[in-house]
Amino acid sequence: MNKLSWAEETASKILEKESAVAARNLGKIPYTAANGVFNDMSQQDICWWTNGFWAGLLWQLYGYQKEDIFRTAAEEIESKLDQNLMTAQGMDHDSGFRWLLTSVANYRLTGSAASRNRAILAANNLAGRFNLAGSFIRSWNDNGSGETAGWAIIDCMMNLPLLYWASEELKDPRFFQIAKSHADTVRQAFVRKDGSVCHIVAFDPVTGKRLHSLGGQGFAHGSAWTRGQSWAIYGFTLSYLHTKEARYLETAEQVVSYFLAHIPESGFLPVDFCQPVSCPWEDSTAAAIAACGLIELNKATGKEKYLTTAQWLLQTLARSRCSFSPETDQLLENGSAAYHDTSHNFPIIYGDYFFTEGILKLCEKETFLW
Ligand code: GLY
Repeated sequence: MNKLSWAEETASKILEKESAVAARNLGKIPYTAANGVFNDMSQQDICWWTNGFWAGLLWQLYGYQKEDIFRTAAEEIESKLDQNLMTAQGMDHDSGFRWLLTSVANYRLTGSAASRNRAILAANNLAGRFNLAGSFIRSWNDNGSGETAGWAIIDCMMNLPLLYWASEELKDPRFFQIAKSHADTVRQAFVRKDGSVCHIVAFDPVTGKRLHSLGGQGFAHGSAWTRGQSWAIYGFTLSYLHTKEARYLETAEQVVSYFLAHIPESGFLPVDFCQPVSCPWEDSTAAAIAACGLIELNKATGKEKYLTTAQWLLQTLARSRCSFSPETDQLLENGSAAYHDTSHNFPIIYGDYFFTEGILKLCEKETFLW
């Protein structure tokens, strides 16, 4: 079976499944699933950072096949997220994850003026988190410790496309400048000599001086949290695609070289590349995110190994970690939120999103890029 026919067959299975899943979950904002049933973060935590991914998946599918249920379900989620736009706690550095995949996607596909307005508000808020002394975008809001004013995290590389979009949409270079400044700081302050990246870096919020790194969601300080490596691979690739600055491509490839040297032969990614070999915890979401980045890197560099690795990762997930049955809500299983959490190997919605995005990329049917 050649690459395209396998990917197209997988895309058809996703479409059939998600059409049924969307119809029975109208109004829900899923984060995970238990016993095949999505939970609903709109009831638990409307501010949660993952609240855009299900809508993003639905918009990707809507662009491929104009089924009304995909659009209706995605629009319902987008309006629920308006609650975030009205509260300080509802806004943080993850505005890209939430409003690119809801409002920007809607605006691109339907031209909705309300969606454009929401996305511009979110982009302005994200730009407002920029720390001028340290040239970084502040990550989390105050967690009660008073320490987070100077924290930046690798994940934020994936939020920069909201700023690139706003600059282009408004013909205003400020957003672009902020995104590039943040990306340049991350290159300097997060990427280690061996190509691995740290999760969190603390800066002095007044002077901007780099203080130290923290282990964050990974195994330990100095380790290589797998999803963080994936965010860096895809995030730097996206910054290259939006700016055409070769240094971002170089950094993406530097992180990829570490990543490729550490993928286990099984193709199943651990939660952290430095975790004990006996630890059975996986992060399927990291594999799906990296695959998306690798497909884009292949297009940008022409290097075949990036595409073959992405195909292998996605095929491994499809064969052993996906539930294509329309009866179950989750698509991708065996994700992990953080190494030191008590739960592991469970479905997480961004796994479903990036697996779908990766398959659509292989079919050349992706509706929109970040
Ligand atoms: N904090 C984003 C993530 O868990 O990847």
